[in-house]
Amino acid sequence: MKNTVAFILFFMMGFASIAQTQKNKTSQLIEFSTQDISMFASVTEDSTLLFHYFGKKIQDASPFLDKRYYRRQDYGTDNMMYPTAGGKNFREPALRVTHADGDLNTELVFLGYAKRKIDENRTETTVHLKDRKLPLYVDLIVKAFYKENVFSQYVVITNEEKSAVRLHNFYSFFLPIKSTAYYLNSFTGDWAMEMGLSETLLTRGIKSIETKKGVRVTRNESPSFLVALDAPLNENFGEVIGGSLAWSGNYKLNFELDEFDVLNITTGINPYASDYLLAKKKSFKTPEIIYTFSNQGAGGISRNLHDWARNYGVYDAKTIRPTLLNSWEGAYFDFNENSLKTMIDDAADLGLEMFVLDDGWFGNTYPRNNPRAGLGDWQVNHTKLPKGIDDIATYAVSKGLQFGIWIEPEMVNPESELAKSKPDWTVKSKSRAVPTIRNQWLLDLTNPAVQDFVFSVFDNTIQLSKNISYIKWDANRHVESVGSSYLSKDLQSHFWIDYVQGLYNVYERIREKHPNIIVQACGSGGGRVDYGALKYQQEVWTSDNTDALSRVFIQYGTNYIFPALVTGSHVSSSPNHQTNNQTPLKFRFDLAMSGRLGMELQPKAMSDAEKEFAKTAISNYKAIRDIVMFGDLYRISSPYDKQAYYSLMYVDKKKEKAVVYAYSIKYQGTGFTPKLRLHGLDPNKQYRIKELNVNKSSFWGDGKVFSGEYLINDGINPPLRKIYDSAVFSIEEI
Ligand code: GLA
Repeated sequence: MKNTVAFILFFMMGFASIAQTQKNKTSQLIEFSTQDISMFASVTEDSTLLFHYFGKKIQDASPFLDKRYYRRQDYGTDNMMYPTAGGKNFREPALRVTHADGDLNTELVFLGYAKRKIDENRTETTVHLKDRKLPLYVDLIVKAFYKENVFSQYVVITNEEKSAVRLHNFYSFFLPIKSTAYYLNSFTGDWAMEMGLSETLLTRGIKSIETKKGVRVTRNESPSFLVALDAPLNENFGEVIGGSLAWSGNYKLNFELDEFDVLNITTGINPYASDYLLAKKKSFKTPEIIYTFSNQGAGGISRNLHDWARNYGVYDAKTIRPTLLNSWEGAYFDFNENSLKTMIDDAADLGLEMFVLDDGWFGNTYPRNNPRAGLGDWQVNHTKLPKGIDDIATYAVSKGLQFGIWIEPEMVNPESELAKSKPDWTVKSKSRAVPTIRNQWLLDLTNPAVQDFVFSVFDNTIQLSKNISYIKWDANRHVESVGSSYLSKDLQSHFWIDYVQGLYNVYERIREKHPNIIVQACGSGGGRVDYGALKYQQEVWTSDNTDALSRVFIQYGTNYIFPALVTGSHVSSSPNHQTNNQTPLKFRFDLAMSGRLGMELQPKAMSDAEKEFAKTAISNYKAIRDIVMFGDLYRISSPYDKQAYYSLMYVDKKKEKAVVYAYSIKYQGTGFTPKLRLHGLDPNKQYRIKELNVNKSSFWGDGKVFSGEYLINDGINPPLRKIYDSAVFSIEEI
């Protein structure tokens, strides 16, 4: 009801503004702008909404009213802001529906628009559109984030037709861009190899990035992209568009280079097998896409997105995240009260701030001693932990640590009491075999009873001890053999969307009741890295791969889009269970310290010297982590370059403090010295450089003072040339 009233109000405001503007003009311009970028649409005399521009700010945009595109008038349309199937559109439609009367055509006409200042920094523009013939309404809601130079958009489709309308395509966004060449940079990978970056020169046709897996959707692909215009992506120079869809389910991003050499970008929910029956009088709201433009290369895009994330996109983003020891790689399923308490002692001794008990603490009839049993039965295992979770959590707190615990509430092992008592709760097609992944089935979150259950798993777990302050929420499978016993026969295709909405309902309820619990989104590591989840959660488990060399690439890619504040980064043993690389402890720490530092190993297995080093590194990290978590990221060199030398820096907003990291990931030869230019500094300031995590620095400039001008232009050249040589420098204005 509230929504309907708001909708009507917007609608009337929209009419008011159209009425005003139309006194003078037969067509009108709609401007969306932030501090440095603008976007323009216009309305033609026949009420078509055309799209003209997205890029660096243009103050006087009046020429767009008269601009001609020299296309045949009787052939297709000029660029539209939200093209539909039917009428004269022949590009991939943002909206495709079958109307109540069976008509396949939709032609949106402009009704009006309304602008609303949410606060000093944010303006929301709602553009009202309607089919030329039928009462199907579409609102485009565009938010401009002034300081961050970021826009977001979602779409609301409202059915006022005589019966249900079938939605086929219902993307969140369409962006037609004209340039000379388009270089798509996207992120792909696999389990333990997530967010690999690759660049493709787009040619005529459509390149799509999509997932059809339903859950844990960012493990192989990502709904995030950068398009470099004119020339390949460069870190510091060039025009780039970047975006990320805030949706934890099936997505599709299309990059269609059309016959006019215009690049048409559509992003949103994947239409695959997702026809949505929109009942009469109902509205459908798409997920939000966040997008930005920079003429300062990829670095500008990342900094804009990170600023937006910290100000608007991530739950509780102003709080320092604690360092932690996670039990998984150090103990797996094999622990008891005493062994956990020893780990807690060690974590406290190392100077860490939290202990997280991972998988294996629950299940009695079907004890969770391996991944084959117990998921779904969230009662404390009496054999391993006879005094319960509270005993362990309270012990951690008595040692000055916070306490966290692992759950995977959307899943169930066939070997569990839950699976046997609630066969209808699992996702499965009626008559077919129900495949397992990692020995488990998925619970059907389209079902409100299942939503209640998943909520109760979180809620009851928190109630195991008043000393629980962190939940690691895992999800270790995707959807196969889709089917819901809850949804009716005609609405099975709603599954993909209703699942995610069910999940978001649960997240909402959790946040209402438990606003202060830190939640980590983990989908086998790297599987739930999206701004849909981060709206509710403080951090993600970046990858299950804790090998530092692999992590160079995983973190490099992930931090293009997501700030270091949210990327859990743990030091594990070496070699670890994912690779046989032999990585020095210093390299592992130096790398983990560029994200949210943690450890994930058995401290008992460390030598005294290693423990001493770890203590120093953890204490150094605490001194610089505010810069890592809240500062601006400047990538200095890419691990993908021929040189295979990764370097990055974070600079605090006042450019008073910075931290610089450098990692050699192959043998560079004896003649090699890097040139690391520190672009993020202020040329007019003086800075002292100090190397961390070493007894004696091998860099000639250690302890010396340099001008920002010098460091930006000539840079530093630490002699790191063997594989796994690494360094961390703290830089402070004097
Ligand atoms: C997944 C997670 C790991 C760990 C295990 C526990 O693989 O990504 O970090 O929690 O589950 O089973």
